[in-house]
Amino acid sequence: MGTPVDPQDPVQFPIAPLAGEALEKMQKSWRRADLNRYLRRFMHIPVPEMPDEVWSYERIHLDVGCGQGLFVFTEAARHPKTAFVGVDKSPVRINRLKERSLGMCNVFPLHTNVTPLLARLPDESLDGLTIFYPNPWWPVKHAGKRWSYHPVLCEFSRIMRPNGIILLASNEHFYLREWLTAACHHPRLSHLKIDYCGPVRCDEPRTHFEAQFLDRQQSLGEITLRHL
Ligand SMILES: C[S@@+](CC[C@H](N)C(=O)[O-])C[C@H]1O[C@@H](n2cnc3c(N)ncnc32)[C@H](O)[C@@H]1O
Repeated sequence: MGTPVDPQDPVQFPIAPLAGEALEKMQKSWRRADLNRYLRRFMHIPVPEMPDEVWSYERIHLDVGCGQGLFVFTEAARHPKTAFVGVDKSPVRINRLKERSLGMCNVFPLHTNVTPLLARLPDESLDGLTIFYPNPWWPVKHAGKRWSYHPVLCEFSRIMRPNGIILLASNEHFYLREWLTAACHHPRLSHLKIDYCGPVRCDEPRTHFEAQFLDRQQSLGEITLRHL
């Protein structure tokens, strides 16, 4: 599955989607991806629900793999009418977000694997979904764990509200290419249009990983998709 990747490749612009055999391999793995089969592993694991209060907000933003939550609590302070849900499967990182967001009513830290949570969301739930610096899963045998191959990818369009924005940022050229390829060719993402694909646009680091990469002067890219 997937194409061999070189973790040393710096992000270069413009980013081009995969074509030819590499694209065919991705398309084959999308056809094989089975979300229901994947979700069976969570049948006996309690998965938290989205807190009821989230639905009372005008706008809802979910940060996938929020880490220590810098983006979540910074943006929550800027946009008090938006609920910011930070999801991470690491209890240590979620606890850090909990500590830092004490007293902020519009921050909702959730400790869970995000996949079953996304799969259960009603249609058109989110105005924003961010994935900052996902784990790259470099080895080809792990390609299916990258979001661009993942079985839950087919849900990404369904859960976004009209004009909702999905943003993925990465320090990995191959990851951005694969994500762009999914945006261009995945049959279930045809309602998502590419708004931007290029160097990260930020005046200050938005997340802890972004801060570390910027400190090391690494080139970083982001892709934003808008739901029609
Ligand atoms: C490389 S870190 C980036 C953290 C943060 N977004 C940042 O930029 O600082 C990736 C994070 O995603 C989380 N993560 C990976 N897969 C996940 C999943 N399926 N569900 C929830 N969290 C996940 C990891 O626990 C980790 O905290």
